[in-house]
Amino acid sequence: MQQKIPYIAISLIYWKCIMCGIVGYIGNKNATEVVMNGLKRVEYRGYDSAGIAMFENNKLNVIKKSGRLEELIGIVDTNLHHSNIAIGHTRWATHGLPNDTNAHPHTDNSGNIAIIHNGIIENYRSLKKILTQKGYFFNTETDTEVLAVFIASIYDEQKEKDMSEAVRIALSEVAGAFGLVVLSAYEPDKIICARRGSPLILGIGDNEYIVASDQTAIVAYMDKVIFPDDNEMLVITKSGYIEKTFDNVAIDKEPTKIEFELAQLEKGGYEHFMLKEIMEQAETIENAIRGRILLDSGDVKLGGLREVTDKLRDAHRIILTGCGTSWHSALLGEYLIESLAGIPVEVEYASEFRYRNPVLYKGDIVIAISQSGETADTLEAIREAKRKGCVVLGIVNVVGSSIARATDAGVYLHAGPEIGVASTKAFTSQVTALLLLAILLGRMKSISAPDGIEYLKEIKQLPEKINLILKDTSGIQQIAKRYASAKNFLYLGRGYNYPIALEGALKLKEISYLHAEGYPAAEMKHGPLALIDDDMPVVVIATKDSIFEKICSNIEEVKARGGHIIAIATAGFEGNGFLRSKADHIIEIPETLYELTPILAMIPLQLLAYYIAYELGRDIDNPRHLAKSVTVE
Ligand code: G6P
Repeated sequence: MQQKIPYIAISLIYWKCIMCGIVGYIGNKNATEVVMNGLKRVEYRGYDSAGIAMFENNKLNVIKKSGRLEELIGIVDTNLHHSNIAIGHTRWATHGLPNDTNAHPHTDNSGNIAIIHNGIIENYRSLKKILTQKGYFFNTETDTEVLAVFIASIYDEQKEKDMSEAVRIALSEVAGAFGLVVLSAYEPDKIICARRGSPLILGIGDNEYIVASDQTAIVAYMDKVIFPDDNEMLVITKSGYIEKTFDNVAIDKEPTKIEFELAQLEKGGYEHFMLKEIMEQAETIENAIRGRILLDSGDVKLGGLREVTDKLRDAHRIILTGCGTSWHSALLGEYLIESLAGIPVEVEYASEFRYRNPVLYKGDIVIAISQSGETADTLEAIREAKRKGCVVLGIVNVVGSSIARATDAGVYLHAGPEIGVASTKAFTSQVTALLLLAILLGRMKSISAPDGIEYLKEIKQLPEKINLILKDTSGIQQIAKRYASAKNFLYLGRGYNYPIALEGALKLKEISYLHAEGYPAAEMKHGPLALIDDDMPVVVIATKDSIFEKICSNIEEVKARGGHIIAIATAGFEGNGFLRSKADHIIEIPETLYELTPILAMIPLQLLAYYIAYELGRDIDNPRHLAKSVTVE
């Protein structure tokens, strides 16, 4: 990837983990406060239950509560706790009810060892059986409690007591995935943590350390981090840390600096992160193109791909893969790369790719697209591609994330942290990165320098044009008010705007819980047309392009059946006369090249989804049942 983070192939065999947020602190501050603050940052990873364990008054104190983090905050007064060491967890349950008992931290039978865990211990049943025979007992149904008891059983049998050694031995015997943090009353001067498959990052301060599943839980206190790799563990005291493999081989990693500022994690005056992130898109596109555009020659420079330029030039086929919104970017990437560079592209849902034994050839280039860089299905797809000898690249937002490290090279988005569960700014940045890649490849093939210059000039103007769309959202708010009571929505687009129809529908589904479907407009007559009646709002991307006339016919078909048209149109286009006569509402975006239209067309659709969800009083940043980072198969 662009930022120099050493590539170490990670073992993905065990990537079958639940997604949870973990935070641990050791230092001179009020550890309870630091951990509770950290949990607020990683709550997006799961919000079924939460808990904290601290060492105070010579014993472990564990407090946990089902429900949102707010519930835990309500019963933990940080002023009443004076500990310098604590660990905390926020859970997204896959099995086992999200109740108080199943919440983390889990303890061993003596209550002297507390652990928090993001992952699944696959052989927990057999371990539980052996431990039960030895006289240990269990209070919960969870695999994590079994791990706590297993560590305790090894510690109990040690002649020379050494908690980190007990953890190391336990972990070399468990199968499954874990980001694990252990706090023990036996050795209360240290935090022991380890990872295999699940993310875990160490923040390094002055005589203080934070371990967390995300840098966002660290940046308020320190800005240097290291990224432990799979099958590595850390033993952390106030005065330092040791990093080693499960085979006891010492590791020495150079810390890197966190790329973003604390302010980027705040709402900055907006009511929701999602709205803030929508409004940031002029800036994030600017960041995605900064230093990458060579206007004089019409070339694109993607430093992170320098080493693989020859392979890209010679590629007979590119496979783009991702999940959710990132899959929609991939689809758009296919259109862009095939049309601008003439290289055949296939798009795969990462979750399908890994299970369907895809035919891959050595020269194939697989590009994984991911905002978080932690999506389990995408990681598994990377593993499958590597196993088959492909070069694997990444288009990733989070620097140092698992996908960034698992890929051979790639492009960072530099969009800054995206907190709202529904992806917005990361999507437009992904599309921008794919557009740059398509031009880079196109310039190696058939795009002339003047054409390259024209594309790049237009790309440079995108931020300004985005700001024009964002300047006044009142029209979109009115439309949202009008249609918030509708039960179903259809989104139609053709060509480059077909993936935008899909993404527009997904935005609405995610945050408003309304049913929405995206369709290639011409396919409507093969089925969805039957759904149209006068209760059906139909969002149509009808911008100025070569297939505008065709879209007009689709609009006629909808109108003839009583549907309501919300059209996304190009400002100042003479064809808009038709739209004005047929559409119920028109949202205008500035004119740009056809290939760039999707980036502008997406923004009103994000706003429309946002304001409809707002009208309905939904939990916009944390929609029900969803999580930002899906580290589960
Ligand atoms: C989750 C998120 C989506 C996201 C998808 C892929 O489902 O809720 O917003 O598009 O994961 O995530 P990634 O981080 O790999 O882009």
